[in-house]
Amino acid sequence: MSGDGTAVLVARDLRQVYKISRGPLRAPEQLQAVDGVSFTVRPGETLAVVGESGCGKSTLARMASLIEAPTAGELLLNGVDVVQASAAERHALRHTVQLVFQNPYGSLNPRKKIGAILEAPLEINTSLNASERNGQARAMLALVGLRAEHYDRYPHMFSGGQRQRIAIARALMLKPSLIVADEPVSALDVSIQAQVLNLLDDLQQELGLAYLFISHDLGVVRHIAHDVMVMYLGHAVEQGKKKALFTHPLHPYTQALLASTPGIVGSGPGKKRIVLKGELPSPLHPPSGCVFSTRCPEALARCHVERPVLRELAGRKVACHEAERFVQPVA
Ligand SMILES: Nc1ncnc2c1ncn2[C@@H]1O[C@H](COP(=O)(O)OP(=O)(O)O)[C@@H](O)[C@H]1O
Ligand SMILES: [Mg+2]
Repeated sequence: MSGDGTAVLVARDLRQVYKISRGPLRAPEQLQAVDGVSFTVRPGETLAVVGESGCGKSTLARMASLIEAPTAGELLLNGVDVVQASAAERHALRHTVQLVFQNPYGSLNPRKKIGAILEAPLEINTSLNASERNGQARAMLALVGLRAEHYDRYPHMFSGGQRQRIAIARALMLKPSLIVADEPVSALDVSIQAQVLNLLDDLQQELGLAYLFISHDLGVVRHIAHDVMVMYLGHAVEQGKKKALFTHPLHPYTQALLASTPGIVGSGPGKKRIVLKGELPSPLHPPSGCVFSTRCPEALARCHVERPVLRELAGRKVACHEAERFVQPVA
């Protein structure tokens, strides 16, 4: 059991290593997609995971939703260790966590009506009869803001935002305690994004859901997160309460992300416009020392040789040798 009480999801030093083939004559290379992250998600709360493409967000989503086993580390879902669990225990846990993807159209069967799409998980996993399944599907349509007549329509008849409502509805049919949402609004227009984020917020309040919410966009995260974890090349570089990270970012990478997000004005060091230089390094050959050192405007000699550990500072965790320089005096 976890020592984290009511936590829905606890990850400890979670890792995913992929073996990349280099042809028949050479040993495969190892790619550290997620290189030791730890976090907790509680009922009714949202942990947002942010970072550029390739930092390991989707890999984390696949591990958290039990699609992919971690290479190492601990993962507790409602207190059950999913790595050690038997196949039967893992199967039972599959209801507890559901995944919502960026592109709902790709995951909705075009030949099935919405009613059938929503009822499929009940048909496979419960002993409810047809009229009970029908009742639950119709109730779910209403819950996600769709109309009764939508029950008999096909996915192509819906807009992008409506399709994402359908994907959310389907994810909720088995009453999960955790939703892992991987870039759920990234494909939508900004005005539609707000509607879907509001829906997620309402559903969280109503059902006490926990969210692991993944986005490359801090502007999106600002509306929905309680906690934030900023990732870079498979590492968590800063994590803590949203307010701490948004008003007072300590890691230069968090500062840079905030500075490049329209409409967000950080205070202190976050206010100055940090433009990231250089390319994102390949996770196959991460920089020695701090993973961010090759692009960090604040990097010193030490940063290129010594990897900073994630440590407590000013009410959050940060992995930066120089973070003290960015701590603001308490007013
Ligand atoms: N199945 C896989 N096999 C090999 N490499 C992978 C696999 N999935 C992801 N990767 C690599 O792992 C890293 C993290 O990918 P991903 O988790 O998709 O990042 P993100 O979702 O943040 O863009 C990338 O370098 C990606 O190329
Ligand atoms: Mg991704």
